[in-house]
Amino acid sequence: MAIINIEKIGIKIDDPERCKKFLKENGITYERWDTGKIENNEIDQEKILDSFREEIEKLKKMGGYTTADVINMNPSTPGLEEMLAKFRKEHTHSEDEVRFTLEGRGIFFIHPERGEVFSIEVERGDLISVPAGTRHWFDLCGERRIVAIRLFQNKAGWIPNYTNSGEDRNFIPVCFGPSFIRHNEH
Ligand code: LAC
Ligand code: NI
Repeated sequence: MAIINIEKIGIKIDDPERCKKFLKENGITYERWDTGKIENNEIDQEKILDSFREEIEKLKKMGGYTTADVINMNPSTPGLEEMLAKFRKEHTHSEDEVRFTLEGRGIFFIHPERGEVFSIEVERGDLISVPAGTRHWFDLCGERRIVAIRLFQNKAGWIPNYTNSGEDRNFIPVCFGPSFIRHNEH
């Protein structure tokens, strides 16, 4: 289940329905998908995409997505730091950012047009869709591991438009769940 943190005003939301409502008010779709059909620790991209074929097809039709892939990041991923350096700088995309997490934990920071920056910590079973043009950035939690399905409209895949606002430097990626609180290096 997702955990939302609005650091500046000291509000944390971890109730699924309240998370969903808060995110909806901010234009973000949040759903829980059943992960029962896939084993823990499955990292085979084809197996993962195959298990969620129906859901992916539905999303593709709804949002005009053309491709789906599986991102797998962990401490032994070559170039992990370079990859993270790209993700943790505030950016937008010209398409919605759709991510379904299967393993590990990550933290998305959202910088809305109005209101305070908030973070969404995601884990296994969490689907989020962040609308095109939304300012955001991403980091891994303490265990530095995530496996997630990504959908793209553009066949070229992941294209960031960096804002260079520097806002990302004002926040430390603090993850809360489930068993520890960790401060990542930034
Ligand atoms: C992405 C996240 C890292 O664009 O924002 O995939
Ligand atoms: Ni992004």
